[in-house]
Amino acid sequence: MNDREINVFSSTDMLSDWLLKLIQQQMKELSQPYYNIALSGGSTPAKIFDYIASQNPEVIDWQKVRLFWGDERCVPPDDEESNYNMTRKHLLDDVAVPDKNVFRVMGEYQPGKAMLHYRDVLQKNLPHVNELPQFDLVLLGLGDDGHTASIFPGDDVSLHSHEACELATHPVSGQKRVSITMPVINNARTVVFLVTGAGKAAMVKNIFGKADFSEFPASHVKLLEGNLFWLLDDAAAKLLDGTI
Ligand code: 6PG
Repeated sequence: MNDREINVFSSTDMLSDWLLKLIQQQMKELSQPYYNIALSGGSTPAKIFDYIASQNPEVIDWQKVRLFWGDERCVPPDDEESNYNMTRKHLLDDVAVPDKNVFRVMGEYQPGKAMLHYRDVLQKNLPHVNELPQFDLVLLGLGDDGHTASIFPGDDVSLHSHEACELATHPVSGQKRVSITMPVINNARTVVFLVTGAGKAAMVKNIFGKADFSEFPASHVKLLEGNLFWLLDDAAAKLLDGTI
């Protein structure tokens, strides 16, 4: 287990290629039928998904990949706000993931029902370790307020709940979201933060400069047994000095 490994890239394509090679390596070592990934949402993953979707189809055996989401907005799957919709446009429409391997949050349901349904999906379709669902890989973004997935500052429920997921509320828009909990994130075999752009540089510096377990939820990502990687582009890393 490593505390965390930080890799800085001069382009999103180079960052994406590093992630692709990590997935390929881990799938070679797979000792179970499927490689279970929790995808991140927001805008950052779109270019990364485009890069992966643009590779030769055989780079990943998509038959062995099962896709979940780390969080989802409580909106219909064709809504511009939907993380599933973003993923469909930038990845699913271009790679041969069987429909049966895609486990989206039912954002069109009433939020509480969507959360309970997804909690059941996670419980039934993932291996359990430490009495929690375990992902092979969790991809995470970083909000400029230090949130990750949809665990926002002050949301102690999602931060400490030992349920598979919880219902969260965006602090500005009030939008309801379903999010995996921090204990599930920390139970993963591998977690990769994907952070690009100058707009994230200040929060990246906060996360790496603050004492552990600060008010920023992203600083609570400390894996129990797995490996944590931060993939940054030059712009997001520009306020970091060489001491990290
Ligand atoms: C979401 C994400 C969220 C995102 C960060 C960064 O549903 O919005 O899961 O955690 O990763 O807010 O978003 P950007 O990539 O758009 O900056």
